Amino acid sequence: MAEILIVDDDLHLRQSFEKLLAGEGHTVRAAASGEAGLRMVEERSPDLVVMDVRMPGMDGLTAFQAMRKVDPKLQAIIMTAFGTTETAIEATKMGAFDYVLKPFDIPDILDLIRRALEAGALMRGRVGLGPSVEAERGEALVGTGKAMNEVYKAIGRAAPTDALVLIRGESGTGKELVARAVYQHSLRADRPFLVINCVAIPETLLESELFGYEKGAFTGASARRVGKIEQANRGTVFLDEIGDMPLVIQAKILRLLQEKKIERLGGREPIPVDVRIIAATNRDLEAAVSEGRFREDLYYRLKVVTLNLPPLRERREDIPLLADYFLARFSRDMDMPNPGLTPEAVEALASHPWPGNVRELGNTLHKALIFSRGAPLTREDVFTAVGGSCAGTASAESEGGETLASFVRRTLTEKAGENAFDQLMDHVGRLVIREALEITGGNRTRAARLLGLSRPTLLARIEKYGLRIGAQVS
Ligand SMILES: Nc1ncnc2c1ncn2[C@@H]1O[C@H](COP(=O)(O)OP(=O)(O)OP(=O)(O)O)[C@@H](O)[C@H]1O
Ligand SMILES: [Mg+2]
Repeated sequence: MAEILIVDDDLHLRQSFEKLLAGEGHTVRAAASGEAGLRMVEERSPDLVVMDVRMPGMDGLTAFQAMRKVDPKLQAIIMTAFGTTETAIEATKMGAFDYVLKPFDIPDILDLIRRALEAGALMRGRVGLGPSVEAERGEALVGTGKAMNEVYKAIGRAAPTDALVLIRGESGTGKELVARAVYQHSLRADRPFLVINCVAIPETLLESELFGYEKGAFTGASARRVGKIEQANRGTVFLDEIGDMPLVIQAKILRLLQEKKIERLGGREPIPVDVRIIAATNRDLEAAVSEGRFREDLYYRLKVVTLNLPPLRERREDIPLLADYFLARFSRDMDMPNPGLTPEAVEALASHPWPGNVRELGNTLHKALIFSRGAPLTREDVFTAVGGSCAGTASAESEGGETLASFVRRTLTEKAGENAFDQLMDHVGRLVIREALEITGGNRTRAARLLGLSRPTLLARIEKYGLRIGAQVS
């Protein structure tokens, strides 16, 4: 959980924030003035500052400026009252995450705080390259095979150049991780890093999110708003899923690349900005160009420095290492012992096709770890966690958190007609037998009694469902 600094001269407001945020599991520090807040940042930089604009002594804007000198990546939300909005807008221009108008609704401010913390984590969370100390503590790009070594070299070459970088690869291959690694190894590593996901934001909002707008630019634009690109001035902007960017916005991005200028919506004057762009996509850009969905001129600019991330099935040599890395990381995060993997489990992982790439491998191990009982994960555990796509077995547990009813519904829509009833019955049967064996600690005689089945019938079922229950003799 995060450490948040509240700076406001209003004692009541400080106290309500302390209570509210402590309830969310955050650590809260509070200061009654800009000067005191600045001293606290000098002492130790928090994950986020939530600060008032108008305070006696040093005002919020001056304090924010001074805090940013101490920590250029400091995340801040500025609270403003009617009449001081201009100052709050100034603060966003200097890189504050956002501002809120007092009085605000609690769910809104909590949502804003969550987003600011997420954005801050992407900026600060170190991404290690290859197995390293960082791999043990934070996130790392794992892989020692030829393909990943090429990626590391390309990151090393591209990072310090300030050049536009395009990262391509299937979903789950690590594009976002690579983007952060490029940023962290760049000359702008101590400046902000802002992520814009071009598909997550509706088209109408994306333009104003990126470029901002002037007061009155459209109905509802009651005050000027500074866009993300301007906020990231002298820093890096990561345009994720650029292949899905609407054509109107592509034109504006092209202009940014060519002229280093942007225009706010409804603005009269171009604003000079200095940002480095990193872009990523899993789309077939060439097809998008030929279908007229992606500008050819932008495509040619983007592709000059391209980093291609191989799908996991083309770098299987890294799977054992990745599996160890994920198990170590998740068991540390969940504060449970790392069960490790049997050699057969490693083999099963290494031969799976992984259509969802590294993300799917990570999710599978996460799930397997949750269901683990201390013993090294077996081939069977892996099959179960992978969700039945491995070796054609039906999974006993449904997808993480999915109820049996929704699993049934999904199977009925996806596999309509293909023996759906039998498959579902097998699924349930497998689940029931697994649970019974679990209760009896693997004792088949007792499990059979529990289920009201004869022992041979139970053994036949175990065989049919491919359940392997260790070496228990019972
Ligand atoms: N080489 C790697 N080493 C360790 N972890 C990795 C690696 N590649 C990806 N991951 C992990 O896999 C998950 C997916 O990675 P990421 O979000 O970067 O993928 P992506 O290519 O951006 O996917 P999408 O196209 O779906 O957005 C993340 O949890 C990431 O930490
Ligand atoms: Mg991504």
